[in-house]
Amino acid sequence: MRDCRNGRRSILILKSSSEEQTDQLGQKLAAVLTPGLTIALSGELGSGKTRFVRALCAGLGVDTDRVNSPTFVLMQLYTDGRIPVAHFDTYRLADVEEFLAIGADEFLQSGEYLCLIEWADRVAEILPNDRLSLTITQTAPLCRTFTFSAGGPRSATILSELARG
Ligand SMILES: Nc1ncnc2c1ncn2[C@@H]1O[C@H](COP(=O)(O)OP(=O)(O)O)[C@@H](O)[C@H]1O
Ligand SMILES: [Mg+2]
Repeated sequence: MRDCRNGRRSILILKSSSEEQTDQLGQKLAAVLTPGLTIALSGELGSGKTRFVRALCAGLGVDTDRVNSPTFVLMQLYTDGRIPVAHFDTYRLADVEEFLAIGADEFLQSGEYLCLIEWADRVAEILPNDRLSLTITQTAPLCRTFTFSAGGPRSATILSELARG
């Protein structure tokens, strides 16, 4: 879907039928990302949020051995790639205040970190409006649908470049 006023894209739907294709998608998105963007990930448990974060981080040149969904860590930083990444998993957070207490705001407003937030719906109220939202849906054991939507001009520009690539 295109926003007719500025020609930028507000929604993009892509499909993957293997982890390799998910890796390719992560690579493509990584290639057009700029520092300071927030990506809000949603989708059921096991849909592939963490797997996509790993694909994206690999595309940025991060050593992905550390990229996973640990049971007790709410935030991980990866600073060895092209853009520094703050990876949050809010699944076990009690509320937005706890999200703020771990220092999330500092990264969201840094203008420097790429913020990747799993279960983003739980903290949506404090996320920037101009964020890239991604909902992942499992359609078969190895198949996933990735629905991207842009909340403002900056994320729409990224989405347009992803669609072009
Ligand atoms: N095409 C695919 N893309 C992404 N993940 C896939 C795909 N096919 C199978 N998977 C598997 O789906 C699971 C997704 O798990 P995970 O990323 O931890 O989910 P979430 O973080 O959403 O709870 C992983 O075990 C991954 O290997
Ligand atoms: Mg996860």
